[in-house]
Amino acid sequence: MNKLETPIVLATLHTGIKHDSGAKHVSGTAEYIDDMVEPAGLMHAYLGLSTKPHAEIVGMDFSATRAAPGVIGVLTAADVPGDNDISSNHSHDEPLLPVDTVHFWGQPLFVVIAETRDQARRAAHLAKVDYKDLPFATDVRAAQAAGGTLVTPPLKLERGDVAAGMAAAPRRLKGCVEIGGQDHFYLEGQIALAVPGEDEDVTVFSSTQHPSEVQVMVAQVLGIRLHAVTVNVRRMGGGFGGKETQSNLFACLAALAAKKWNRACKIRPDRDDDMTATGKRHDFVVDYDVGYDDTGKIHAVEAVYGARAGFSSDLSGPVTDRALFHADNAYWYPAVRVRSEPLYTNTVSNTAFRGFGGPQGMMAAERWIEDIAYALAKDPLDIRKANFYGTDTDNVTPYHQTVTDNIVHRVVDELEASSDYQARRAAVLSYNAGSPILKKGIALVPVKFGISFTATWYNQAGALVHVYKDGSIHLSHGGTEMGQGLYIKVAQVLADAFGVGLGAIKIMGTSTGKVPNTSATAASSGSDLNGMAAWDAARQIKERLVAHAAKLYQCDEAAVLWVPGGVQAGDTFVPFSELAASAYMNRVQLSATGFYQVPKIHWDRATGRGHPFYYFAYGASVSEVTIDTLSGEYTVDRVDILHDVGRSLNPAIDIGQIEGGFIQGMGWLTTEELVWDDKGQLRTKAPSTYKIPLASDVPPIFNVKLAEWSVNTEPTIGRSKAVGEPPLMLAMSVVEALSMAVASVADYTIAPRLNTPVTPERVLMGCERLKREARG
Ligand code: MTE
Ligand code: HPA
Ligand code: MOS
Repeated sequence: MNKLETPIVLATLHTGIKHDSGAKHVSGTAEYIDDMVEPAGLMHAYLGLSTKPHAEIVGMDFSATRAAPGVIGVLTAADVPGDNDISSNHSHDEPLLPVDTVHFWGQPLFVVIAETRDQARRAAHLAKVDYKDLPFATDVRAAQAAGGTLVTPPLKLERGDVAAGMAAAPRRLKGCVEIGGQDHFYLEGQIALAVPGEDEDVTVFSSTQHPSEVQVMVAQVLGIRLHAVTVNVRRMGGGFGGKETQSNLFACLAALAAKKWNRACKIRPDRDDDMTATGKRHDFVVDYDVGYDDTGKIHAVEAVYGARAGFSSDLSGPVTDRALFHADNAYWYPAVRVRSEPLYTNTVSNTAFRGFGGPQGMMAAERWIEDIAYALAKDPLDIRKANFYGTDTDNVTPYHQTVTDNIVHRVVDELEASSDYQARRAAVLSYNAGSPILKKGIALVPVKFGISFTATWYNQAGALVHVYKDGSIHLSHGGTEMGQGLYIKVAQVLADAFGVGLGAIKIMGTSTGKVPNTSATAASSGSDLNGMAAWDAARQIKERLVAHAAKLYQCDEAAVLWVPGGVQAGDTFVPFSELAASAYMNRVQLSATGFYQVPKIHWDRATGRGHPFYYFAYGASVSEVTIDTLSGEYTVDRVDILHDVGRSLNPAIDIGQIEGGFIQGMGWLTTEELVWDDKGQLRTKAPSTYKIPLASDVPPIFNVKLAEWSVNTEPTIGRSKAVGEPPLMLAMSVVEALSMAVASVADYTIAPRLNTPVTPERVLMGCERLKREARG
């Protein structure tokens, strides 16, 4: 084939292509770890959990366990050949299995290995453990009262003169807001399958967002080097942050058993044990003091962010840091001082969850905005607008980074118009005036979210691209797929770079053997980082192919043009497959590794100053709700969203992320309630008592739009922006709308101050309190 008979291979970037596994997800043919063909001689492991919130372990008797049918053995801390530690940040405060003390109800104490999973599980319940009780505290207030032990050093952010700002402010308010935690409720629970190899080798299939960390932990626990451990993950059935560190335990236990008995081993806890034994979103109690004026402009903010960290540090340092980084949401504070308290509690160690502390930080900001609005009898939207970051002035954050890409004004103005906010608010007010029992509320809330890992070194990625001599391609990179569409986005980048169809590209499962030393797929950075790394690998191969084509077709390299389906070399069109074949015959290398590091960012935690975020993602939402003031029950009637993903890599995937993020955020803020009883036991550990949103909870009117005009001001891949986490926070408008509906019972003169989750009970109690206070 020659001349310009360009085959029909279309650009794939920026188009709404389906998720690569979408058909497999819905037809049940996508392979998860529990679907894999089981190796011969597979052993099964089951956890034994602590039944005390804080106690010394006096003794453990496994005689009945060992005698039970099918039991191969029991593993405790004493069986760990290497370091009995799986703390993710070298804090050395999280044992794989505890030695002498348990720190929370449900802490994994030992693991039973048996021929079948059922046998292992039954035998685990036969163990007898003697404890000596120790004092315990399970929540933020109890931990503060007990002396406020922290699991990791706190952060302080400060800018401006807070004392002077408070003193000069004509108005002042103080308060406290409680923001609840959240279970990840990934559909596929935690799981690992370890297969022993020769010498020290072990291969671990882990449902993890962080294969390289699993590799480090397995090596550490076994006392071997990293090169002996290979970690593979084709896909997760959801992670949401719950598999950033929480998969370490399962992978290490499976590997430990596999090496001890030289047989493959699988571990998969039941849902209630998964919910009991793995960390969740941190709940926070934020005490605040705000100075403001009659126009609603904030002069000074001071706040302390107490968080239930659980028994170890895990990611509580960076999570509480990110809460402070979002103490401003989209608002400029002339003077501000905020401090974190990652508190030791006798509960499971809390961890990453979509937004990573940011949502909690923003909820507190929206609380004082609302307080100001009710104190001044204004629409909270006016208070929000009065405090937005400026574009040229009033644009420095509490961490001294200047906001240079602010588009909150345009996003909010467009949504206000497209959602018909003003007319609908007027309609809600008049509806409420004439409706004694049912009350409506409406609210518009903005979101600004910082993109980059605040652990600066995490902002790097690698890729490995092989072109085979028939023109087909293997794509590997360090990112993991958890349903968010990372794999298809990076494949689109590669297809676009080579001008081939997606069919030419095989997306390889993630493996530490393909790309080393990777970061967690987290902080919404997956496509920013891995997209660039894959592009870099493609660039190198293309450079070699262009040089090869120029030589072969005797033209200048500048005359070799990359066109859909292949290259145009002078007046010869060479299909990509032919080009690959001839490159091979001419001994041209057809494989490359790519690499990317995010430019510009830096952060000094000690001084609380720096440029931790490469850019910001923006969005806004309007929610309208109806409450029943006699029962507290409510419906979310309509939601409108305008969200900024820069130039979308894949609008179909991005809209899905926005819809899913919003609904997950709505669950967090409305129905998902975690309850620990007075014995320190988590009581909401199954779908019977822990209520995530259902398909029927999706608002009947749900308008989701991308800010199509937005282009990342930084040269990210395709000028896109990260999308994974920011939309979760759009659900704050549901809380604010519920608040308005509750406020209506006292003629909008008293701030409802609803804590989250705003369950129907809280709505009812809020209505009752406001009615009481209004009567005087
Ligand atoms: N979407 C799905 N379907 N499943 C998930 O587990 N995790 C979220 C988000 N969207 C998640 C998801 C979280 S917490 C993050 S950090 C990002 O996806 C991670 O992927 P990304 O960086 O590729 O966006
Ligand atoms: N976000 C998510 N995960 C992380 C981060 C972060 O900022 N830092 C370390 N792990
Ligand atoms: Mo997402 S909480 O950064 O895994």
